[in-house]
Amino acid sequence: TFPKQVKIVEVGARDGLQNEKNIVPTPTKIKLIDMLSEAGLPVIEATSFVSPKWVPQMADNAEVLKGIQKFPGVNYPVLTPNIKGFQAAVAAGAKEVSIFGAASEQFTKKNTNCSIDESLQRADEILRAARAAGIPVRGYVSCVLGCPYEGKISPAKVAEITKKMYSMGCYEISLGDTIGVGTPGIMKDMLSAVMYDVPVAALAVHCHDTYGQALANTLMALQMGVSVVDASVAGLGGCPYAQGASGNLATEDLVYMLSGLGIHTGVNLQKLLEAGAFICQALNRKTCSKVAQATCKL
Ligand code: HMG
Ligand code: MG
Repeated sequence: TFPKQVKIVEVGARDGLQNEKNIVPTPTKIKLIDMLSEAGLPVIEATSFVSPKWVPQMADNAEVLKGIQKFPGVNYPVLTPNIKGFQAAVAAGAKEVSIFGAASEQFTKKNTNCSIDESLQRADEILRAARAAGIPVRGYVSCVLGCPYEGKISPAKVAEITKKMYSMGCYEISLGDTIGVGTPGIMKDMLSAVMYDVPVAALAVHCHDTYGQALANTLMALQMGVSVVDASVAGLGGCPYAQGASGNLATEDLVYMLSGLGIHTGVNLQKLLEAGAFICQALNRKTCSKVAQATCKL
């Protein structure tokens, strides 16, 4: 059985644009996010407060966060790797933040220049400050179905990190197939292990589509009771520290499948397609969404 309702977390403006070769102008980012709000997405990850030396594409984080229209009822979380990023995010008006870690030592080192333990300590520092400030914190675990440096990742390792983030106070934890190598069977094994330790209501999935498995992996997660799904408009995305990884599951494709299943999302597909067309034109590239490419209509 599927959930009756799915919350879509739109990550295109962050996960997508962090990986662009050319730096996208700030007004373009703001327009994209406003169009996504207009399309009815309930959660739109706006930017990240990471080091601009590491990810120059997100250096305009404060301008983006301040410049977007804040639609009532919509959350605009931002990624924060450390307390410095958390403070900058709050100063720019962030009402929700996300911490990020991984189930792989080597990926953690490449992505945040520290060990898993150190990254959890940084997260804990953020969670304490966030609790004092009344700011909800989402968590991300990367490499849950495989790592570009370590290869296979055991479900037990993913469960261990997820459980730690949950007990530290993350209200929701997004399980990321960062390099898009998973298949539904591996997703099932990983989720079974995690769900033993963490309630399914606190879990989200975040699939990249490198091997064309993102929608199938997401469907498996939905069947197992997950009702929060990350996706990226036009399938933008990748991670600068995961070479060769393609974009996330395209939001348009997710919305089309969910609506076919009779699952409520609150997203207007037509307006979402317009947002996708806008950003693809601005980036001068073709959409990765199959639905956006499709010309035959029912
Ligand atoms: P570091 O170099 O070890 O940090 O980087 P440091 O503490 O030694 O500081 C070095 C310099 O950076 C200093 O400046 C700091 O002030 C500055 P300097 O004194 O040299 O002028 N700095 C900062 N500046 C702005 N904002 C900050 C900040 N922190 C330090 N927050 C650090 C450590 C964690 C900062 C760095 O590695 C970093 O920013 N990493 C982020 C990488 C990233 O954004 N990756 C992509 C997001 S994760 C992802 O995409 C996966 C996901 O989608 C899920 C999935 O698909 O699996 C979420
Ligand atoms: Mg990602």
